Amino acid sequence: MDRYAVFGNPIAHSLSPAIHALFAKAEGETIDYRAIEIPAGRFMIFAQRFFDEGGRGANVTLPYKVNAFHWAGVRSARAELAGAANFLMKRGGNIEADNTDGAGLVADLTMNLGEDLRGKRLLLFGAGGAARGVIAPLLALEPRSLVVANRTAERARDLARQFAAHGAIESSALDGVPPGAFDIVINATSGGTRGEALSLPPQVFGPDTLAYDMAYGASARSFAAQAQARGARASDGLGMLVEQAAESYLLWRGKRPATRPVLEDLRARLA
Ligand code: ATR
Repeated sequence: MDRYAVFGNPIAHSLSPAIHALFAKAEGETIDYRAIEIPAGRFMIFAQRFFDEGGRGANVTLPYKVNAFHWAGVRSARAELAGAANFLMKRGGNIEADNTDGAGLVADLTMNLGEDLRGKRLLLFGAGGAARGVIAPLLALEPRSLVVANRTAERARDLARQFAAHGAIESSALDGVPPGAFDIVINATSGGTRGEALSLPPQVFGPDTLAYDMAYGASARSFAAQAQARGARASDGLGMLVEQAAESYLLWRGKRPATRPVLEDLRARLA
């Protein structure tokens, strides 16, 4: 049986094994996909052992996406832009790294939520790895502008500089966000996962805004509540998780599984 895994720490609550089991079932395939918790400092040893023992591919989540990127022998252009990999695959004698997070976000926004990003005003909160991974795929959809706003303004400025050639990107501090409500506001900060309240400028949300949190579950509640208080629609990032998984399945196995039934199944389980 073809073996896959998701590497991370912590990893016990990962939904990826369930998602890939549902994909395989729907495709009439049998795969072995497990969550593997890798102790701090031991990414290379665990990843090497997994592939030496016949593993075909792995997803990678926090805190190992940058390790995976550097460890792999071959890196896709998408992974290079993100500076991180959530996807590994053994092909020939090589381990190839890719990043399907940005494609997952774009698929969720456009296919599941029906958003057309062309000509829209986008705001991205956060300037860490999660933000960096989605900037180029967002700019590829030709929004009117993408503002990266971050608590530490210099990190946002660095990102805007780095991606300037990809489209209309600018940066700001949290208290310097350009006026008016945005069409889409994306939360890529990590504060919510630690239960921290984000102090966001409320005027960025309006009744026509989609507020999208890349996290899901309890981590996404504070951001959604702030957006909804201003009349905005809110979505968590569960769809992004399922879509990045479908992109991974496609790269590994040549088929892109239907995502809607899986998303509905997960929503029912989490409710
Ligand atoms: P990740 O890989 O998840 O993006 P990271 O590189 O540590 O993790 O980045 C976390 C992001 O969340 C950063 O943009 C961080 O802001 P700073 O650059 O100012 O640290 C942001 N962040 C974390 N907690 C936050 C909070 N309570 N309020 C606002 N931003 C927060």
